[in-house]
Amino acid sequence: MEKQLHAYVRSTGAYVPPRRMSNDELAQIVDTSDEWIYSHTGIRYRHIADEGVAASDLAVEAAGIALRNAHVTPDEIDLILLATSTPDYPGLPATACVVQDRLGAANAGAMDLVAACTGFIYGLETARAFIESAAARTVLVIGSEVYSKIINWKDRNSCVLFGDGAGAAVVTAVDATSRQRADSRIIDGKLYSRGQGAEALARLAGGSRTPKPEGGLESPQCFLSMDGRKVYNFAVAALVETIQALLQRNNLQFSDIDWVVPHQANVRIIDAAAKRAGFDKSKFFTNIAEYANTSAASIPIALDEMSRSGALRRGQKVITVGFGAGLTYGGNLLIW
Ligand code: ACO
Repeated sequence: MEKQLHAYVRSTGAYVPPRRMSNDELAQIVDTSDEWIYSHTGIRYRHIADEGVAASDLAVEAAGIALRNAHVTPDEIDLILLATSTPDYPGLPATACVVQDRLGAANAGAMDLVAACTGFIYGLETARAFIESAAARTVLVIGSEVYSKIINWKDRNSCVLFGDGAGAAVVTAVDATSRQRADSRIIDGKLYSRGQGAEALARLAGGSRTPKPEGGLESPQCFLSMDGRKVYNFAVAALVETIQALLQRNNLQFSDIDWVVPHQANVRIIDAAAKRAGFDKSKFFTNIAEYANTSAASIPIALDEMSRSGALRRGQKVITVGFGAGLTYGGNLLIW
């Protein structure tokens, strides 16, 4: 039976800090090179937040743009979902509440969503569920990350991979009276978790398991650690499985899809997944060269860039796919 209510992405917004760091600059800090980084990842630059700038600061900028683009006022928001694994505070309060206050979203509930690089995917699927069940009419989904604050700048295996940024989407109930938006909607979503891989990508101390590691806040355990090979293999399989599941569940072929917007972790992951499954690589959007891996922010930043440039147009079919710490993965199927 046809659902009564649909959710659609009404607008997007994105913000990255102005400070842009090249691979050559990074090579002055750790033993690496532009050649190694670009050939192994596709990354040329990343944007880095200044000292004292936190996830909420980037989130407020991106959300403000998305709200203006949607012509939605802050008091119309019913729910704010902030996907971040670099919150302003460790655990409490939720960074989403800081954002709620700064936006003046007086009628909104607000919560953080921790699914690392899959965070925006989880957020969009949660927004869809709230709207289709009539529990909310307007949901603000944000991905905001400042990985520069949690990476070990002495570890060349990980510090070259990440950048800071935020992206946001205003998700609202489809207005049946709007001719223009009649087709746009979030059709489906699929979320997965594989907790047995929890320690492959993690901050191992500073939480309730090890609140006070030897060496205090400077302990390597307080920074992000990653088993790069393990994450790579997981990511390639996760991309393929998610796309195939969304296609199958909705009786679609890959040729029916206009764009795949994958989490921007490494172009080699995207290339390997497309090759393994025989997907047309030209349908996978990438902008990792400019931003590196901005975790939960990478997909909304990409969607925003694509819609501003005109590459992504209303009525096109899009699959978003994320994968990251947890381990988590999943995707959304949308008509833009
Ligand atoms: N510069 C120069 N050399 C380097 C660097 C660097 N920045 N980093 C590693 N190397 C060296 C290694 O030390 C190793 O040298 P050795 O052979 O002498 O030991 C060599 O390069 C090859 O190392 P590998 O780990 O085999 O390199 P690989 O080709 O696998 O690429 C990479 C490493 C880019 C990390 C890859 O494994 C990868 O992309 N993994 C997934 C990472 C990822 O996407 N993480 C984020 C997930 S999303 C989230 O939730 C945050």
